[in-house]
Amino acid sequence: MYSLRSSRVLLKSSPIVGRTTSRFGSISFVRSKYSLPELDYEFSATEPYISGKINEIHYTKHHQTYVNNLNASIEQAVEAKSKGEVKKLVALQKAINFNGGGYINHCLWWKNLAPVSQGGGQPPSAESHLGKQIAKQYGSIDKLIEITNGKLAGIQGSGWAFIVKNKANGDTIDVITTANQDTVTDPNLVPLIAIDAWEHAYYLQYQNVKADYFKALWNVINWKEAERRYQF
Ligand SMILES: [Fe+2]
Repeated sequence: MYSLRSSRVLLKSSPIVGRTTSRFGSISFVRSKYSLPELDYEFSATEPYISGKINEIHYTKHHQTYVNNLNASIEQAVEAKSKGEVKKLVALQKAINFNGGGYINHCLWWKNLAPVSQGGGQPPSAESHLGKQIAKQYGSIDKLIEITNGKLAGIQGSGWAFIVKNKANGDTIDVITTANQDTVTDPNLVPLIAIDAWEHAYYLQYQNVKADYFKALWNVINWKEAERRYQF
């Protein structure tokens, strides 16, 4: 079982030191290697809304694969750069985008889930900045959820929905979707909640009825984390 202690580190990487040789001689370099984030709860703690088996496979297989492939892609890019292989660098951008997005999106996902016993599903405090903004824009949290579920239902194939703070528009709260593992890269958009609409996130439990998964997952959404992210 993985360590389940609380972690404040959302995107964790550890520096590794390496050495490469080029026609200019030996060059030392330091770069980061990405790893899975620690979870704040047991795999089964989000049941019955998201099964423990889904979490286990999602975390140990899917997210781990994005981590592994991101590290491998970066390593290849470092090597290509040292050799001046621009074409290879360009080709690697797709893999870095996919696996880097997968890594980031899933880090957001685990952190914006919480078991009911740890406050999962509790809406933002009415006094919080986030709670006030939701009331101002949407009237209620239920309306925001309804809009988000509508966007999730509209995703064709695999993708993600994000509830974001739009810093370029007076800190409004918007709902956007991305395809595949594309993540939110606009510096004006701060992801508050990221929702995984890939089949691997629900199929084992909900099969083809993904609307039930979209409805159920709000019972384990960590709005406290969303409140915290809204401050930034
Ligand atoms: Fe996923």
